[in-house]
Amino acid sequence: MNITGSTNIVGLIGNPVEHSFSPQMHNAAFKALNLDYTYVAFDVNPADLKTAINGAKSLNIKGFNVTIPHKINVMKYLDKLDDIAKLIGAVNTIDFKDLKGYNTDGIGAIKAIEEIDSVKNKNIVIAGAGGASRAISFYLAKYGADKITILNRNIDKAKNLANDILNSNLIEDIKTDSISQINNYLNDSDILINTTPVGMSPNINDKPIASAENMHEDLIVFDAVYNPNETVLLKEAIKANAKPVYGIKMLLYQGAESFKIWTGQNPPIDVMEDILIKTLNLK
Ligand code: ATR
Repeated sequence: MNITGSTNIVGLIGNPVEHSFSPQMHNAAFKALNLDYTYVAFDVNPADLKTAINGAKSLNIKGFNVTIPHKINVMKYLDKLDDIAKLIGAVNTIDFKDLKGYNTDGIGAIKAIEEIDSVKNKNIVIAGAGGASRAISFYLAKYGADKITILNRNIDKAKNLANDILNSNLIEDIKTDSISQINNYLNDSDILINTTPVGMSPNINDKPIASAENMHEDLIVFDAVYNPNETVLLKEAIKANAKPVYGIKMLLYQGAESFKIWTGQNPPIDVMEDILIKTLNLK
């Protein structure tokens, strides 16, 4: 990396940040395209968030990714919000050109799924009703999903999310149910998305949220869990000869979308994916 007096700085703010894979992923992409950018991680205490944003503005930093615990609180320090980020109520990307916030987490999941098939006109089941489910569900609605069923342990939480999405007028058909009913929904579904931590390391042998005997061969099964790479749920999908989509793809495409926002260029997806696989020690 050749840092000069004209190098553009982008980075990550969160607390903690040291385990992030984003610096490696973005720096490899900048290098591959010979762009004069560098990406660094900043550990920002919640009490210092406002100062950090103002400082970044003053320092002419070009962009930030934003991670836990700042995704919601950072919005009040921005001048503009992308429409979907506003609906989601969380931001993971800032463009300092116009101090605008975006949410590329949800689009990351859509792009991952769309390596296999479009989400448009599809009947989709999503497990979980937390932050990740919220980001993905709004994007599913925006990208033309026909029907979304949100399944959660806490049904009130699923209902609240469903109401927010209905109020956005992006989609008409939203249902909710207990996650315990999941196997009853799969036969009529095109896509199953897991946003719960079930199967996440170290609990890699958790009982999967759905089982192979209830999956049909055309079902796309996307697991937002990326550690381990092949989760118990994806193993079930493979057993059923269904279509697995790995969580690492969501990381990849959320990063790719942020890269586009900051640089205006299409990132080298293959380079970013290779680095992610190496960084996460998946191969
Ligand atoms: P994230 O930002 O990753 O979405 P989150 O906001 O904490 O994280 O949401 C976690 C989601 O996983 C929630 O929907 C949670 O269900 P509850 O709302 O009922 O708590 C769900 N979840 C967590 N552990 C789970 C488990 N063991 N089985 C099923 N769902 C689980």
